[in-house]
Order: sequence, then structure tokens, then C-alpha cells
Amino acid sequence: MERFDLGPLSDLELHAVRFVRYDGPPPRRSILVVRSVEGVRAYWNVCRHLPIPLDAGAGRLPTSPRPNELVCATHGARYRMEDGLCVGGPCTGALLDEIEVEIDAAADRLWARI
Ligand code: FES
Repeated sequence: MERFDLGPLSDLELHAVRFVRYDGPPPRRSILVVRSVEGVRAYWNVCRHLPIPLDAGAGRLPTSPRPNELVCATHGARYRMEDGLCVGGPCTGALLDEIEVEIDAAADRLWARI
């Protein structure tokens, strides 16, 4: 299992989304790191409706009226930040593919276990 740097913990604000590039086989080319009131989570940036990035390559997600949701730019699927569950759109009930996150608070670093 690989330990992959997801950047500093301290500048990931509540309801923020960080895009981290990853040179894996398509479609696993980037990771979404999010912080909700439940904590920090990471997901592959791959929609569960079609195997394409949630941001459609734009580097940012559409704005949602609910700050704890991630919205797919292509057809508008809505996912909860805290668990990756799709709560609206063409793949309702599906889960984003989660990545294990290790928090090193002392070093101010987030690591993925891939
Ligand atoms: S590709 Fe994401 S909702 Fe269709």
C-alpha cells in the first residue's frame, strides 16, 4: 500500500474541497480531499454515474446551496461530503470510492493510503 501526500491539514477549511493530482490508471487521476463537520475524507474524483471526474476537468465543482455537498459538473449528481453517498441525481444511493486518510496533526500533513 502506498502512502501518498494530500497536503497540509491546517489550510483545509470546513466544507473546502482540495484537488490532488494522482498519476494512477484512468479514471483515477485525481483525489478530492474534503473537510466536513464529521472530519476529513478523501475520494477518487470519479462520478458514480459515469467514470469521469466530478469537476469535468475544470478544477472546481459547481456551487451547491448545501455546503456539505459535492456536485458533479456533468449531470448534477449530489454527494454528501461526510460519507460520499449520492443523495440526488442519476446515481442516487451510490457511494463515491473512498480512500483511507491518515492525519498527522503534529506534522500538519494528510496522507492517503492507496
Ligand atoms: S457524470 Fe456525474 S452525474 Fe452524470
